[in-house]
Amino acid sequence: MLRRLHPEQPDTFAFTDANMAWAQEQITKYPAGRQASAIIPLLWRAQEQEGWLTRPAIEAIADMLDMAYIRALEVASFYFMFQLQPVGALAHIQICGTTSCMICGAEDLVAVCREKIAERPHELSADGRFSWEEVECLGACANAPMAQIGKDYYEDLTAEKLGALLDDLAAGKVPQVGPQNGRFASEPEGGITTLTEFVNGSITLNASAQLAHDIGDTIKRIDGTEVPLDAPWTDQSGRRGDAEPQGGPNLSKGHPADATGIDKREHPADRPGRPESKSEPKEASEGATEEASSKTKPQGIDGPRGGKSDDLKRIKGVGPKLEKLLHSMGFYHFDQIAAWTGEEVAWVDDNLEGFKGRVTRDEWIAQARELSNETKA
Ligand code: FES
Repeated sequence: MLRRLHPEQPDTFAFTDANMAWAQEQITKYPAGRQASAIIPLLWRAQEQEGWLTRPAIEAIADMLDMAYIRALEVASFYFMFQLQPVGALAHIQICGTTSCMICGAEDLVAVCREKIAERPHELSADGRFSWEEVECLGACANAPMAQIGKDYYEDLTAEKLGALLDDLAAGKVPQVGPQNGRFASEPEGGITTLTEFVNGSITLNASAQLAHDIGDTIKRIDGTEVPLDAPWTDQSGRRGDAEPQGGPNLSKGHPADATGIDKREHPADRPGRPESKSEPKEASEGATEEASSKTKPQGIDGPRGGKSDDLKRIKGVGPKLEKLLHSMGFYHFDQIAAWTGEEVAWVDDNLEGFKGRVTRDEWIAQARELSNETKA
């Protein structure tokens, strides 16, 4: 299937404060220079926030991760989990149409979607609440035919069951996720013959289906009732990485993002503009001492010495964009960066538009010193 950006796009995208704090937290999971690994959770968060994945969102996230736009677009356009156009406000039904599901009745499921939602895939239903599409194998072949709706799988479907499921969704009910024919998971339809203790009458749903049942979360987007964020990388002091605001993320009670760290506000109009990063350098690696209380612009130069600049991209975390930005500020050489004081680091950190706080987070000073010594040797 051809997956392209929708022709009509909003002008801008901004994470809400809470979602930005969450996104920055995700980035801290990965080592310096490898922050692009956070692309999928960030794109998903943007989609959860906006309902679909817009071009400005993809580009804003690419900027956050120091990635070329095309790289982020490749990820967004590859995975079916990312919706590149507006979808039903309540639910987008993804029917698996690959071999196992096709053999077991996927065409009947598509017919139900055509009848109850809209004739063509990605067309909104008359009330705008539903849409559907056929997708490639979703990896639940043993429970074919199946559909993904929101975050969850509905398996062992029949046309009747899918029809009833859509009616339930339209009526505001929260249907049970997982196998729809009474199976626990993907055991033989005749029942299991081993590990019987796991289906002994007291456990009736498999783990993921049980969780969805317990929190009543099947088709809902982020609304604050999900499982609290578990951040095992949190250090002993409770600080969750350099990207976190010094006072901790703004997740106080009463804030739209409660202790779960998830922004509950539904309407984009309720959301503030893209927040400025509140990150303050806590410690500027080497070369800077305590947290700088004031900021000083370091002295730049008009052009590279001898007409040749150092390859600043050798500093982990610096990509082509950041290198260009540094050049525009008059920094071309490792020794220039290595000589920044704490106050100067604070200034640069604050003026790296779209990359604030990177000097401190990625320890540029230490890296630049090493590279500078290497260059001189
Ligand atoms: S063929 Fe449908 S989930 Fe694999």
